[in-house]
Amino acid sequence: MNELSLYLLDIMQNSIKAKATLINLDIIKNIDEDKLTIKIVDNGCGMSEEVLSKVLSPFYTTRTTRKVGLGLPLFKELSELCEGSFKIESKVGVGTTLTATFRLNNIDLPPFGNWVDTFYILVINDEDVDIKYTHKVIKNNETKEFVFDTIEIKNILDGMSIKDFSLMQWAKDYIKNGLEEIDAI
Ligand SMILES: Nc1ncnc2c1ncn2[C@@H]1O[C@H](COP(=O)(O)OP(=O)(O)OP(=O)(O)O)[C@@H](O)[C@H]1O
Ligand SMILES: [Mg+2]
Repeated sequence: MNELSLYLLDIMQNSIKAKATLINLDIIKNIDEDKLTIKIVDNGCGMSEEVLSKVLSPFYTTRTTRKVGLGLPLFKELSELCEGSFKIESKVGVGTTLTATFRLNNIDLPPFGNWVDTFYILVINDEDVDIKYTHKVIKNNETKEFVFDTIEIKNILDGMSIKDFSLMQWAKDYIKNGLEEIDAI
């Protein structure tokens, strides 16, 4: 996988599969510290200690259609390749928190790729899953931030579906411009 967006798609799909109703996605591009941090917190079913200890092996999966699960081990491998760290915490019935860091200037760090479209697939994937996405850029001790919160958006929409086709282009442009403004990706 040569796009960060594909890793994020996989990780957030795990949260959706785990029946999360809320996913917090925080991305921090800290130029001062040459560090990218990606944190995903969900309120899904969580994992037992036993599952959690196995989860980082590429041969563990609870899916039945294919024998290997790759999302988590690949993401962990990437963070380590990029001189970063990887941490996953989970509690059954509470949810899962995953934090991965990367060195921004590491040559192996893939670009975000088609992040806006990928993120929007997650947004419209399931209307019952809310996503609060915060993207921060820290440069010269100054923090700029872009937030896309589906709960807020749904309130503004006043009954209209977030999946509505006429809304899609507006939303994607809004995200694209917001990220460009803070030089996020
Ligand atoms: N956020 C999460 N909440 C609860 N369980 C999770 C979560 N993320 C991963 N898991 C568990 O860890 C297993 C491994 O996840 P991983 O993404 O590596 O593989 P997969 O989702 O099974 O397969 P693939 O990602 O290749 O489609 C999952 O099958 C699931 O049981
Ligand atoms: Mg997965």
